[in-house]
Amino acid sequence: MKKLVFLTGAGVSQESGISTFRDSDGLWENYPVMDVASADGFKRNPELVHHFYNERRKQLIDTRPNKAHLIIKELEQDFDVITITQNVDDLHEKAGSNNIIHLHGELMKVRSIAHPERTYTLEYPNIETCATTVDKYGDIIRPHIVFFGEDVPLYTDALDIVADADILVIIGTSLVVYPAAALVNFTKKGTPIFYIDPKPSTVSYLDNITYIAKKATEGMTELAEILRKNYI
Ligand code: APR
Repeated sequence: MKKLVFLTGAGVSQESGISTFRDSDGLWENYPVMDVASADGFKRNPELVHHFYNERRKQLIDTRPNKAHLIIKELEQDFDVITITQNVDDLHEKAGSNNIIHLHGELMKVRSIAHPERTYTLEYPNIETCATTVDKYGDIIRPHIVFFGEDVPLYTDALDIVADADILVIIGTSLVVYPAAALVNFTKKGTPIFYIDPKPSTVSYLDNITYIAKKATEGMTELAEILRKNYI
């Protein structure tokens, strides 16, 4: 089966009710981004950062995957699908997708600060943490999120996956945050690229890109047909 790689951003979750980032003029749930999503912000006020992520986890409880997430899952029947997402929500998981790479971390996970390899998945209803929450070893924990100013540990894995893709589908990302946005440059020459976004950023340096200027659910319905007709 052909390798079908998805690079998704906040737009794929927008129709599930999760707001995107840059449509909210730099405020995330009314907080300045750098106060709640940067390494410095976490150093300055860890309590505020824990509170911010607690709020986003509570929002996630009743949030369901939309048709775009479900179509991506269904395409696993006909393609070797890998989903690289910039999103920290668990909607690709809730849709049943396998092979998901969370470039920017996961909302439902926390990790030890002293031993970052120790990550823990929070289970409802115990999904809130604070600056003094510790793990079973007594070590302080933090959100398992890549803050602005921190490395993206899974970037090279993602890069290798894109380089090996037979088809790349970009959904719902403004392609303004690096290094994630640079991934689109690493496809093999001539690899077909599709970009689903109602207001797509222009990716002028790629000659084999097809824009589908629609919302994710509509765009993925249309693209699934194209993929099955032309690439199976
Ligand atoms: N369907 C598809 N795309 C949509 C929809 C929709 N229903 N609604 C909005 N979009 C598009 C917007 O046009 C925009 O291009 O989704 C994109 C969202 O862009 P951003 O808000 O910049 O989100 P994203 O690209 O995922 O941000 C990347 O930056 O803020 C950090 O870590 C955060 O992972 C995030 C990263």
